[in-house]
Amino acid sequence: MSESSDQHYVIVGAGQAGAEVASELRKRGFEGQISLIGDESVAPYRRPPLSKAYFSGDAEADSLLVLKPPQLEKNGIDLLSGVTVDAIDRATHTVTLSDGRSLQYDKLALTTGGRARPLPCPGNDLDGVFLLRSLADVDAIRAHCNAETRMAIVGGGFIGLEVAASARKAGMAVTVVETLDRVLARVTAPVVSAFFERIHREAGVDLRTGVRVEAIEGTTKVEGVRLGDGSVIPADVVVVGIGLIPNVELAEAAGLEVDNGIVVDACAQTSDPDIVAAGDCANHPNRFAGERIRLESVQNAMEQARVAAGTMLGAESPYDAVPWFWSDQYDCKLQMAGLSGGYDDIVLRGDPAAEKRFSAFYLRDGQLIAADSVGRPQDFMFAKKLVTLNIAPDRAKLADPEVPLKAFLPA
Ligand code: APR
Repeated sequence: MSESSDQHYVIVGAGQAGAEVASELRKRGFEGQISLIGDESVAPYRRPPLSKAYFSGDAEADSLLVLKPPQLEKNGIDLLSGVTVDAIDRATHTVTLSDGRSLQYDKLALTTGGRARPLPCPGNDLDGVFLLRSLADVDAIRAHCNAETRMAIVGGGFIGLEVAASARKAGMAVTVVETLDRVLARVTAPVVSAFFERIHREAGVDLRTGVRVEAIEGTTKVEGVRLGDGSVIPADVVVVGIGLIPNVELAEAAGLEVDNGIVVDACAQTSDPDIVAAGDCANHPNRFAGERIRLESVQNAMEQARVAAGTMLGAESPYDAVPWFWSDQYDCKLQMAGLSGGYDDIVLRGDPAAEKRFSAFYLRDGQLIAADSVGRPQDFMFAKKLVTLNIAPDRAKLADPEVPLKAFLPA
């Protein structure tokens, strides 16, 4: 038995980051007790399919689980589900749970993720108004919908657009309302936004950009969405996808440093040496952003979680992974490598206005900082490498679909 066997490591938050911390601790030979605590009643699961295959009924809940009961048992991970951690006492190394129990920890990981931002307008509590973050949310939405449903979606981000595609596939009448003048404005360039606006309109979505939602109308249940210009979109169901609020209150109450997320260093350590944090809730230094950032992605959840697990075991190796994201809408797969914020030049390979296969490369001071690809998975694969290497590509070659991106790799 190693000296780790009498240690108790506690992980707060049983999403993908929390599950990965637990698995990684075992992979690295940790022999002590692992408690993984989550407020949802299910084992850790993948959220990305919720707005896609799971919404469409093409994936069963079971297929979303990342740690099924046999794996939990095999790895000796104690899953405490349906319980919330109410407080952390750092002086006594204790966490208090909502069911009255308290647990002593040697090391603590905070993988508390985030919650969907509620729509701040009258009527947001009417029957038929939904946020989308959990399996339970999607089960509730699906139970309210059939092919005749008129669905209004608030927010033209990843969630809103993925739900729009899934709902159209199910035959529903779909309206999307986005406050900004284009969809996906947080994450992509106008030319890529225009592509997604085109494919949604071609699929029959009534897409309204540059409009405010004033209120959700209805007496007991949703009847429509009233916009800033006074018009009302009739709707039976409203799905709100207007961003994420990081779950930082627990950390804040424990006196940890918090600033748009739980502040961690490159090794995922918080301002307390016995507490790490990872995933959607963690504000970390990121060389691809050139500053501190909080990333909302599966890539970040998984890779930062592994760094955090290493740090818990005293093997500090900094997080330095290239960010990547993806989104599936209709027959289009968007794959994004790097962070495009702050680009000063954009090079297109293919024509987003006419085709469904293209890449947009983002440059800053001549260096490749990010790429968005639709239907060009090879570009995505090599872009991840090229962004990491800070290459300064030839623009004409970058624009030429005949030049494989592999050619830009240093010899
Ligand atoms: N009315 C309409 N649109 C709004 C409003 C509003 N009141 N407030 C915000 N929006 C728009 C934003 O302009 C943005 O386009 O909602 C969109 C939110 O997009 P995201 O920030 O991508 O958030 P969301 O789609 O909810 O996704 C939440 O889940 O899939 C992940 O990566 C995703 O981490 C993100 C999370």
